[in-house]
Parts: sequence; structure tokens; C-alpha cells
Amino acid sequence: MTGHRFRHIALGDVGSTNDEARQRIASLAGEEFVVTGVRQLAGRGRRGRSWVSPAGNVYASFVVRPGAPTHRLPELSFVAALAVAGAVDDIIAGKASVRCKWPNDVLVDGAKVCGILLETAPDGGGGLVVIVGIGINVVSKPSDTPYPAVALAEVVPWARSDAVFDALRHALANRVELWEREGFAKVRELWLERVDGVGGPIVARLADGEVHGTFTGLDESGALLLTDAEGKLHRITAGDVFRPSPEV
Ligand code: BTN
Repeated sequence: MTGHRFRHIALGDVGSTNDEARQRIASLAGEEFVVTGVRQLAGRGRRGRSWVSPAGNVYASFVVRPGAPTHRLPELSFVAALAVAGAVDDIIAGKASVRCKWPNDVLVDGAKVCGILLETAPDGGGGLVVIVGIGINVVSKPSDTPYPAVALAEVVPWARSDAVFDALRHALANRVELWEREGFAKVRELWLERVDGVGGPIVARLADGEVHGTFTGLDESGALLLTDAEGKLHRITAGDVFRPSPEV
């Protein structure tokens, strides 16, 4: 059954669930599983940032063993974002809008509700497994972010991490299966239905500066397409994107 594609290993306090998952890849050879923690004491975010992780939220790292070649593994970032969006939709049942933002953010009424961190590890047989680390703000959110953040309990006060995790485990199994069956084209199509701002102004903040322009779409490998004022098309593969004002 799709809901049980990932065996669940539930832990208490951990450093990072991504590290806990990584440590089990060899002993659980051939298996797909998910490690959750109640709290993370060294939670990691994208681009070297930390992820503050008090009790009450979801901290889950899924080990996915995809049959796809290595160059396609980053596609799982969009698969994961769609899964989070689906799980969040289930929980808040239409009480707010749930949208995606490149590369893998999910926004509830415009505010960030989750973080997704993809890492790879050797599978022991010459291939790679992907660790899909997902944090969802259920009862609390970070206070010092440069972007608006939200916790699900602000929208549905009865939201609990167990129910959110169950929805996520089911949704991720479902979306990974869709990706395996129908390929990235289908994932891209579903993601583009969930993204705001195509055709509007956008700023991409990259390691070496900023590019301003129009959000033109997503290419067939998941790169963000941005057209600048001179009409030059930029393919952005890593970075953060914002609307020029107000910042989201
Ligand atoms: C981001 O910067 O937006 C990504 C944050 C990812 C946080 C999750 S929580 C579970 C997993 N374990 C970690 O240490 N990080 C990810």
C-alpha cells in the first residue's frame, strides 16, 4: 500500500533527522524508510542555514531509492514540494491557499510553512539514495526569518504533528510513485499549477549576486527560467527567489 512505502523509525531528540537517516542506509539496505524526531538540536536548512526545531512540528527524513539516473535526482525536490502541498491541503481543508514557490517552498496564504532539504548518500552498490528532509511548522514557526512564516495551527488550531506526518508519508509515497510512473513532465505540470507569479517580476538571489526579471517558467529539468530587462533568458539552478516588493 502506498501509505507504507516508507517504514517509519520514530526517534525522540536528535541532532538532525537527515543524519539519523544517513546512518541507517547501510543497515536497512534496499529499504525505503523515514526517520522522524520530536526535536532536532542541530537541524539544517538549505545553503548552510540552521533549522530551529522545537517539539510539536514535523521533522522527517525520507530515504528514497529511486530507479532514476543521478542527473534526475534533483527532480525529487519538486516531488517533495508537491507532497507537502498535498498533505497541508488535507490538513487545512480549504481554509487557506496552499501554493508552491521555487525551488521547493510551500506557502500557506503567502507565508512559508515548511522547509525541504535534499541530500544524497551512496547506496553501497555504486548508486545514490536521496534523503528528503522535510520540516513542517505545525504548532510553531521561526521568529527571525527574512520572509513571512506560518504554522498550521494558526489556520487550524487542532493541527497536530502526528496527523500531519501521516498525511505527508502517504502523499510522498503517492507523488514518488507518480514521478516514477509518469516522469518529471507530469510533476512539472502539477507544480506549475501550484506556483504563483509566472509572467510577473521576480528577483533571484544567487551565491554571486542578484538577477532581476520576469518569472518565465520552469524548464524540463526543474531550473527556474527568468527573462531579464534586456530579454536575456537565465536558467537558475540554485538560489532563492523573491518578488521584488513586498518580499515573500
Ligand atoms: C530550508 O532551509 O528551507 C530547508 C529546511 C529543512 C529542514 C528539515 S527538518 C528535517 C530535516 N532534517 C534537517 O536537519 N533538515 C531537514
